Amino acid sequence: MATAAQFTRLPHPAPTAAADRAAVLADPGFGKCFSDHMVCIDWSEDKGWHNPVIGPRGPIALDPAASVLHYAQEIFEGLKAYRTADGGIALFRPEANAARFNASARRLAMPELPEDLFIGAIRELVAADSDWFPTVEGGSLYLRPFMIATEAFLGVRPAKEYKFLVIASPAGNYFKSGAPAVSIWISDYTRAAPGGTGAAKCGGNYAASLVPTAEAFANGHDQVLFLDAAEHKWIEELGGMNLFFVFSDGTLRTPALTGTILPGITRDSLLQLAREEGLTVQEDRYSLDQWRADAASGHLVETFACGTAAVVTPVGKVADRTSEFTIGSGGPGQLTQKLRARLVAIQRGEAPDTHGWVTRL
Ligand code: PLP
Ligand code: COI
Repeated sequence: MATAAQFTRLPHPAPTAAADRAAVLADPGFGKCFSDHMVCIDWSEDKGWHNPVIGPRGPIALDPAASVLHYAQEIFEGLKAYRTADGGIALFRPEANAARFNASARRLAMPELPEDLFIGAIRELVAADSDWFPTVEGGSLYLRPFMIATEAFLGVRPAKEYKFLVIASPAGNYFKSGAPAVSIWISDYTRAAPGGTGAAKCGGNYAASLVPTAEAFANGHDQVLFLDAAEHKWIEELGGMNLFFVFSDGTLRTPALTGTILPGITRDSLLQLAREEGLTVQEDRYSLDQWRADAASGHLVETFACGTAAVVTPVGKVADRTSEFTIGSGGPGQLTQKLRARLVAIQRGEAPDTHGWVTRL
């Protein structure tokens, strides 16, 4: 069984030229550019996790019959490494990503990865690509651990061979800057049904969200919102973010973890921070009709999206095929900004880490 200490380190024959890297790091966007290295670890029934390698990032060879290409047996994670003011590097709650990765693995009938190997792989990659941190304000190194079924076999059953990989992408803002708040589109499509894979971070959930996302973009919106599958009434989450609602009496609400939405690590962190602020926080269902009525009456004053990529992003406008409504003034609300600032300060090592959330590398 592989351990974090046993990584084979392959030299990079042609790393990116410093000037090209600097240009990327000054304006990375999101998910468009990649660092020089990647981690790869294999799994087989007889050997378990073995052959951990860190080497040059590049194409991977797959048999055309590899199960991932046919039945989408794939899971992934997303977390960020931050360059701190003292020149160090910090990860935010990587053990929570490791735990969710294994929860996704169980749901997709894939082998679990020991937490020390998950975090060890990330350590290796961040060390190899430590000169890939964006220089732009708010930048980070976005890390994408993922696992694919590699066995060549066309029958439908869990594969017997897998690969775990980690790649890194210098990242700026997820949403194009300039907009004070994002606009969201309520989809007629369903993302996840009870008993399905909604709580797992598997590629299939995102495949199902692509047509609705394209529809949101075509209608001039930034993100898609999904309602529940059974009644098409209750707010679930966005394509890649959880949602919070702020009321005029200072209470905060977010949809409960019913098994059909992703248990966001940002969501969980904000719930803890809000409770510490003395806010009343409800994890409960909230209907689209109520949201619309509360926004109109002024009972609802803010709505924000949250996730690793989006951090905390205010929602200004909501639309479906027939109607549209605005949240508050349409711009960032006070509590949204306050919670965002508290979270970001912890993530970047600027505020004391009283929760044990930060891993310094
Ligand atoms: N919901 C979905 C569908 C997501 O893809 C993400 C992003 O990972 C989230 C919620 C937020 O999760 P986290 O805060 O762990 O990034
Ligand atoms: C993340 O926040 O890490 C995600 O996976 C969501 C996606 C929109 C990039």
